Order: sequence, then structure tokens, then C-alpha cells
Amino acid sequence: MFADEDNITELAVQRWATAHSPRLGELMTALVRHLHAFAAEVRLTEDEWAAAIQWLTDAGQTCDDKRQELILASDVLGLSMLVVQLNNRFTPEATPATVLGPFHVDGSPTVPHGFDMSEGLPGTPLYITGKVTDTGGKPLANAVLDVWQADADGAYEAQLPEIDEARLRAKYRTREDGSYCVRTIAPRGYAIPMDGPVGDLIHRTDISWFRPAHIHFLIDEPGHRKLITHLFQEGGDYLDSDVVFGTKDPLIVRFTERPAGTAPDGDPVGEPYLHATYDFVLQPE
Ligand code: BEZ
Ligand code: FE
Repeated sequence: MFADEDNITELAVQRWATAHSPRLGELMTALVRHLHAFAAEVRLTEDEWAAAIQWLTDAGQTCDDKRQELILASDVLGLSMLVVQLNNRFTPEATPATVLGPFHVDGSPTVPHGFDMSEGLPGTPLYITGKVTDTGGKPLANAVLDVWQADADGAYEAQLPEIDEARLRAKYRTREDGSYCVRTIAPRGYAIPMDGPVGDLIHRTDISWFRPAHIHFLIDEPGHRKLITHLFQEGGDYLDSDVVFGTKDPLIVRFTERPAGTAPDGDPVGEPYLHATYDFVLQPE
């Protein structure tokens, strides 16, 4: 049978239903149905189709080992966060997950309790302390918190050429009672990369291209669901308009101003600092 406007969707679905794996068949037939429905709904013109292909081509060509424009596209369309929600349905007591983002770097150095991962970069000192427990309240000893953030200009290590040692990223281990102490600098809200095809598209809308100030955490503790999340600064800009839809109420924490004197880990601190407390709660497998 030859294709016409009325039967082409069903013909393409039948063809892709021959996929050797049932899951691939499910994915591809649903994709064909939704793509065809989209084109039919908006009566896609040939020029628009060509522009979309050009945009995808440009987005692909913008990617390299440090930049992933297609993930950024997924982020700003809300797709990344939808996939996070679908796959991380924890109980309400557990710390919620949010987007990984493109700037996580594997292999951060393991550092001692209270270590300053900003190592002299400009910014207001920030201590984050708390515990890692399971949803039953049991403290998790020796759990690893992989932490990363942008600098005071909103740049991640992965965006800076010529950086060959860890910058604003480190792994902290919890003590016997599940406690941890991170020392860093206060994060700032920042713009996502806007000099590529995603930025071109956003510039043609009223969408804000900023993320609220946050610090990333990844805790992958055996016997528990892996937790990828952020902590956001209470009262910061862009909390209600996060361009990647990553903000969640339980992840917003107060950064309390403290005078110089004694840091939360008992060490002396020579300047005023900020202190945030947060207990990460992991869902058992
Ligand atoms: C981030 O938080 O690092 C991030 C997430 C999504 C897109 C861009 C940046
Ligand atoms: Fe970030």
C-alpha cells in the first residue's frame, strides 16, 4: 500500500513496530505517532521543517567534550526535569531529586570534613552542614557527597579552558553520626550558555535564561536510590523562573549570616560567613 496523508502515520507505525526489542518498538511507534500528530496539528510548512532540521544540525555541531547543546535544549524544554520526576518518585520524607546539569565532572578529589573547596576563590564564605540519613532517620556513615558549583561569575570548571585541577568541586564523606561539613563560597544565579542555537531560540521569547543560585550534590550510597539534587539559596533571584525548571520548595535553604569567630566545624574563621544546614534523606532501594 502506498502512503497518503490519511494512512502514512499507521504505515510508519507498522514499520517501526518491527523493532527487534519490544521496548524499542514501543518507543519508536509512540515517537512516530506524536511527531506526526505535531506536524498535522500545526500544519508544519516545508520551510519550518527545513529550519528545524538546520537548528538540530547546528545544535549537534555546537556539542563537544565540554558542551552539550542538545541536553541544554532538553533542559529548557522541561524534558530533562520531566524525566527526573518520572524516574525519581521518592517518598515525601526523602530529599527530592533535580537535574544533573551538564557541568558535573567525574573523579573529584576526596577532601576532609570542613575542607574549603573554593580554595581562595573570591566570594563570601559559606558553610553547609547537616546529616545524611535514610528515610527511617538512620544516619549513614561514610556516605560520599559529591559537590560542585559555579564560581562568583557563574562559570563552572568545565566551561573554563586550561583548568587542569579540581575547581569548586570535591567529595566529602560523612562521619560516624552521618554528619558532613562543606566549606565553599556562596553561589550566585547565572545564565545558561546563550551563545548557541538554544540561546538563539530563547532570545526570540520572553523566557528568562537564568538559574537561581544553587550548589549541586550527588550522593550514591549502596542500598539506596542515587540522589542527584541541588540546594538553592532562600530569597535568591530566579527561584520562580528557573530556566531548566529545577527548583523545588524542599531544596530551598536559608543562608544565615554569622560573624567572624568560630566556624560550624569548630575551626576559627577570620571573616563573617554564611551558614546553611540541610539533612539529606536517602530512599532505601
Ligand atoms: C546546572 O545547574 O549546572 C545547569 C543545569 C541545566 C542547564 C545548564 C546548567
Ligand atoms: Fe548549576
